Parts: sequence; C-alpha cells; structure tokens
Amino acid sequence: TPLVVAVDGPSGSGKSSVSRQVAAQLDLAYLDTGAMYRAATWRCVQRGVDLMDTALVADTVRSMVLQLDLNPRFPSFVVDGVDVGVAIRAPEISAVVSQVATNLEVRADLGERQRRVIAVERTPDGFSGGRGIVVEGRDITTVIAPDADVRLLLTASEEARLARRAREVHGTDDAAALEATREHVVDRDARDSTVVEFRTAADGVVTVDSSGLDLEQTVQAVLALVED
Ligand code: CDP
Repeated sequence: TPLVVAVDGPSGSGKSSVSRQVAAQLDLAYLDTGAMYRAATWRCVQRGVDLMDTALVADTVRSMVLQLDLNPRFPSFVVDGVDVGVAIRAPEISAVVSQVATNLEVRADLGERQRRVIAVERTPDGFSGGRGIVVEGRDITTVIAPDADVRLLLTASEEARLARRAREVHGTDDAAALEATREHVVDRDARDSTVVEFRTAADGVVTVDSSGLDLEQTVQAVLALVED
C-alpha cells in the first residue's frame, strides 16, 4: 500500500535534506513544495510582475507550466521548458518568495497541484510506481495532506537553524555570516507564519528536534518513526 510521509518545518530545520534522503532510502517519490513557491516567484520576477498586484501574481502562477521530477536523487523543476533548479535558490528569490507564498490564490493553485501529485503517487502510474511519496513544506501536515500516514514537524533551535543556513549560503558560521543569515531567515519565517502555522505541531503530528543531531542521525530518527 502507498505510503505518504508529510514533513513540515521552518527554514534551516534540515527538512529538505532529510526528506530527500528518507525518500531515496525508502524508494519513494519526493516533492519539495518550497521549490514550487520559489518557481512561482521566479516566474513572476522573470516577467517583471509587481508582487503587490495580487491578482496579476495569481494569474501569472496559474498559467505557469511546471514539470516536476520526483526522483529524490535528482529532483528537478522545469518552468515553461526552462530548468530553474539553480535560479530559484538565488537570494533575490529568497528575499521575495514570502510575498508570493502569502497570496491566498497562489496557495490554492499550488496546493491543488500538490494534492494531484500525491494522488498520482498513490497509484501505480506515479514515479514511485505506487510506493508513495515524501512531501515537505510548511503546511503539508495540516492543509495539504492531513491524512498522511506519517506526519512530522522537523524543528531545531534558532541557533542551530541559523548556523546551518549560514554554512550553506556563506560557507561559514562566523559572527558576520550568522548576522547576515538572521536578517533573512528569521524575517522570512515571521512573514510566512502569518498564513501558515509551522512552528508548533498540530494534533497527531510528531515533532523531531534535530538541534543536536547531524543529518545522518536525523534521517535515522525519521526512518525509525516511519517504520513504526
Ligand atoms: O529556504 P527554505 O528551505 O526554508 O524554504 P523553502 O522550503 O524553499 O520554501 C521557500 C518559501 O516557500 C517559504 O519561505 C514559504 O514562503 C514558502 N512555502 C510555503 O508557503 N508553503 C509551503 N508548503 C512551502 C514553502
């Protein structure tokens, strides 16, 4: 029977790396919903859309042709025929993605696409051949797949999250890098949490705190919960 694993968490919690590895180990499909919001943002920025114009932003996202590769070893995102895997991680996108992600029409559209992906992965026609999927984001355990077989909130202390992001983006977690990261990460989480609650676990959602764990240990902890 297909297995659906939903993972939510704030920025720097390690949810993308952990979810990918868990999906790879269990031979499941993998969907990074944050990358969908980033792809939507990339399309708007590319077209010079005023992000305050919520109706135009929603139209621009609705007309986006998005092709996903759900392989956890080589996840890819193609927008209108362009591979945007690298472009969507640019700081200019991170800086404005919350503006697009707090647009409720955008959330309805991308949410619908996410539910369709999950539905297909429950059938033999999906990438996983019916084995299932790991889906990660901010509202997966609560809004998109509240009926998932496994629902996890991956957290970590603010210090741990900032240090991880600083190493990812600046290659170091010295004081200057931490400060530069704080500005982005903490602000983005604050903006995001105005529309989705991902800081405390909803009923039935298991919290995994990765503050004192490395990637491998966190993956093992999640695998243990999935196998339970
Ligand atoms: O950089 P980080 O891994 O923290 O973020 P991400 O997972 O790539 O998500 C980028 C942005 O997409 C978030 O800051 C949210 O604004 C938005 N997002 C969302 O609103 N709902 C989701 N399910 C996933 C992401």
